[in-house]
Amino acid sequence: MTWQDSDLAGLFDRRPDEGVYRVNRRVYTDPVLYQLELEHIFEGSWIYVAHESQIPENGDFLTITMGRQPVIINRDMDGQINGFINSCPHRGARLCRTEHGNRKNFVCTYHGWTFASSGEAQWIQREEDGYPQPLDHVNEVGLKRVPRVESYRGFIFASLSDEVPELVDHLLGGAPYIDMLVDQAPEGFEVLKGYSSSVYNGNWKLMLENGGGDGLHPDYAHASLLGVAGRKLKRTDAIQTMQIDKMHEKEGGQWVFGNGHTGIWFNFPNPENRPIYKRLPELTEAYGEERARWMTSVFRNLSVYPNLHLLDQMATLIRTFRPLSVDRTEITFYCIAPVGEPRDERIKRLRQFEEFFAGSGMGTPDDNAEFEECQSGAEGRNLTDSYLSFGLHTRHEGTNDVARSVGIELANSGVIGYEGCTMTQYDRWLELLTQGRS
Ligand code: FES
Ligand SMILES: [Fe+2]
Repeated sequence: MTWQDSDLAGLFDRRPDEGVYRVNRRVYTDPVLYQLELEHIFEGSWIYVAHESQIPENGDFLTITMGRQPVIINRDMDGQINGFINSCPHRGARLCRTEHGNRKNFVCTYHGWTFASSGEAQWIQREEDGYPQPLDHVNEVGLKRVPRVESYRGFIFASLSDEVPELVDHLLGGAPYIDMLVDQAPEGFEVLKGYSSSVYNGNWKLMLENGGGDGLHPDYAHASLLGVAGRKLKRTDAIQTMQIDKMHEKEGGQWVFGNGHTGIWFNFPNPENRPIYKRLPELTEAYGEERARWMTSVFRNLSVYPNLHLLDQMATLIRTFRPLSVDRTEITFYCIAPVGEPRDERIKRLRQFEEFFAGSGMGTPDDNAEFEECQSGAEGRNLTDSYLSFGLHTRHEGTNDVARSVGIELANSGVIGYEGCTMTQYDRWLELLTQGRS
């Protein structure tokens, strides 16, 4: 079927004042909706693409896919970060075919056209024979640029549409949330070597919803990991797991920033087991007691719509994800750490990362298995809606004193488990799909 705007709005039963929000599960299964998402979300607005530390040297590049579009992100020989369409202007062959590398120029293997790292064509086969001179090496036969590429504190975002706001205006409260991470290290954060990827058979939004606001699942989906963490407490020589059981009994909440971005936070019962905790005195001196406590001792999930989870909690990591099809999604995890971190803190950080998030970790398979079960459930046609209403009736509109204390403006907020976080993701989904088509 083709989707009209009214059909799209009709997928949601949105009555937060009555404490009810339902989502029609076709959002996870419909191939036409999926194509609209690629066009208007992944190819039509800001998405997260890379961290600057992944391309530290001039000439470094990496290849990614934005929606359906292969893209090169590079640092050119003048040190500027660029995004280029990874497709030769001649006949369209992909120029870069490796995940990352270092090149002063890009050579197309099909007919040999060569491009500078700044995108300008440097050499065109039989140029004088074949084309009227002079040939414009930038606009006519140069690499096509991704219209918008901007960084916020090392995190690079890009948009294939030019009609997007400045990145910082897009991020809203996500920006000060990122500050609380990056300010922990005088020389900033870096992505550590290597990464871990997994693919699950389910729609991409299942991952987004989980990390962006599902504070209800850890005690159940991650019960086995929590059991291991509990038993480890008796082993005083072990690197301890950060405790996330019964999150709702701690002081905490779930925050909605706007533009589909959300956050989860609660006070860790065992902050002393975090590698950054040792720096509490110096961070207190630099940023004051309350902000330093937030940086070292508070579980913080940030979800930047549509494809970034920046987690500073059981470990510190970037989790990014991309749709492969309507019912397949690739997730990639990058452990991040302060530049120049002491060895003992780095070891602790890596072990905590591996325990939950890496390919061999205990947490990710739990979540992926549940996403696949949700996808199977959504394929049926006899229970059309998911009931995503937790905490709506007690939500708080506008910002609050806790958020204000760390310089964050909120659209609304709720208790741990608040499914208004999912509602705001779909509000954004609807906005992008309907605006993009108007
Ligand atoms: S397709 Fe690249 S040079 Fe022809
Ligand atoms: Fe989980």
